[in-house]
This record gives sequence, structure tokens and C-alpha cells, in this order.
Amino acid sequence: MSQSTRENAKPDPFGTALPTLDTERLRLRHPRPEDVDALLAVFSDERTMRYWGGEPIEDLDDARRYRQGIDDGFAARHLFQWAITEQGADRLIGTVTLYRWDRVNRRAEIGFILAPDHWGRGIASEAVGAVLAFGFAEMDLHRVEADVDPDNERSRRLVERFGFRDEGMLRERWFLRGRWADSVIYGLLRRDFRHVAPGGDS
Ligand SMILES: CC(C)(COP(=O)(O)OP(=O)(O)OC[C@H]1O[C@@H](n2cnc3c(N)ncnc32)[C@H](O)[C@@H]1OP(=O)(O)O)[C@@H](O)C(=O)NCCC(=O)NCCS
Repeated sequence: MSQSTRENAKPDPFGTALPTLDTERLRLRHPRPEDVDALLAVFSDERTMRYWGGEPIEDLDDARRYRQGIDDGFAARHLFQWAITEQGADRLIGTVTLYRWDRVNRRAEIGFILAPDHWGRGIASEAVGAVLAFGFAEMDLHRVEADVDPDNERSRRLVERFGFRDEGMLRERWFLRGRWADSVIYGLLRRDFRHVAPGGDS
């Protein structure tokens, strides 16, 4: 690795817990041990798991391990996985994630999941907008990627709203729940980031 490449990676200002991010309707915060019931509910629902690139959470023990993994992943700086909560209600209703942080090349991947009762309200977009703004401003990202199942229309609409571009399809990239799934790889460069205001498309 060349010296100039090395110098791309800046020191890390983050501590032991994810910073809390407030938006108009939401509070994004570090997931806590008491969130395990809500994590199980969100990550075991067949509607949220339909295109998800991982296994469902099976039971409370599994949820506890998953929650611990969020702490461990953050400590290692591989995973920034915020709980999505509504302002004034502390219950976890989904998560929004930056992961595979590559500090030298200043990129990360984004993921998001929301309890189906809350779909169609712009909640996931509001959370993703806040995390993208954080990633570009505080983590100094240059590029964010999303790996989306081509049939996952809601996710595709969500990322495209922020200026993510479809950069091509990788065939049969995942073997999930008995079938091969393709991936559309989306990329968003910092200079193309459009922050979508709630209720608007620009
Ligand atoms: C992907 C997922 C988070 C999208 O949820 P969502 O509620 O559709 O996403 P958004 O927050 O962007 O909401 C957009 C919808 O809210 C509507 N909306 C209402 N008020 C809004 C507001 N203030 N701002 C923006 N959109 C608003 C939009 O019109 C749009 O509805 P439409 O899709 O019927 O046109 C959700 O479907 C999910 O959890 N899926 C399972 C997990 C998953 O597949 N994750 C992605 C893996 S890559």
C-alpha cells in the first residue's frame, strides 16, 4: 500500500456507543439489551425477511447473540447498526446500518429494515437520510454501496430517491432460504447525495 493511500484513512473520533441521531420524527440510537424482543419481532417476520441477505432471528437467545454482535461489530468498527425509534417512543421498530467500513478507500455499505406496520410512511427514508448524512460528514465517506434484490421494489425506490445509481447486476450472488438470489449493486458518491426532506422527493 502506498503512503498516499495510507494517508486517506483518518483517525476515528467515535467512542464506545453509536452517536444518537435525531430527525424530525425519529431517534436513531445504539441498540440495547432490552431491545431483544423487538429485534426478534422485526427479524423473524417473513415480510421483512423475504429479500434479506441473512438468516432470520430464530428466538430470544438468537436475538441476544445478534444484539451482542452489534456491540462487537461497533467495537471493531465493522458495523454501525442503529436502532430506529420514533421520537417520544423508545421501542425499536427497525434498524439502519453502515457496515464493511473501508477507511482507506472511504466507503461502506448500507442496510435497512423496518417493521411492516410502519412501511409507507417515509420512516425508512428518514432514517437512511440521517445515516447517509452522518456517513458523509462524520465518517468522511466518499462512496456508499447497497446490495439489493432486483425484486425488492421498496428498497430500490428508497435508494434511488437519494441518488444511488444502479451499477449492474451480479447473478445468483446469494443462496438464501433454498433459492439463488441476484443482487443489484447500487452506488452513491458523496457528490451525488440528495438529502430527501420528509414528504418531498428532492
Ligand atoms: C425496505 C423498507 C425499509 C422500505 O420501507 P418503506 O416504508 O417502503 O420505505 P420509505 O421509508 O422509503 O417509505 C416510502 C413510502 O412511504 C411513502 N411516504 C409517506 N410519507 C412519506 C414521507 N414523509 N417521506 C417519504 N415517503 C413517504 C412514500 O410515498 C412511499 O410509499 P410507496 O412505496 O407506497 O410509494 C421495507 O420495505 C423493509 O423493511 N423491507 C424488508 C427489509 C429489506 O428488504 N431491506 C432492504 C435490504 S437491501
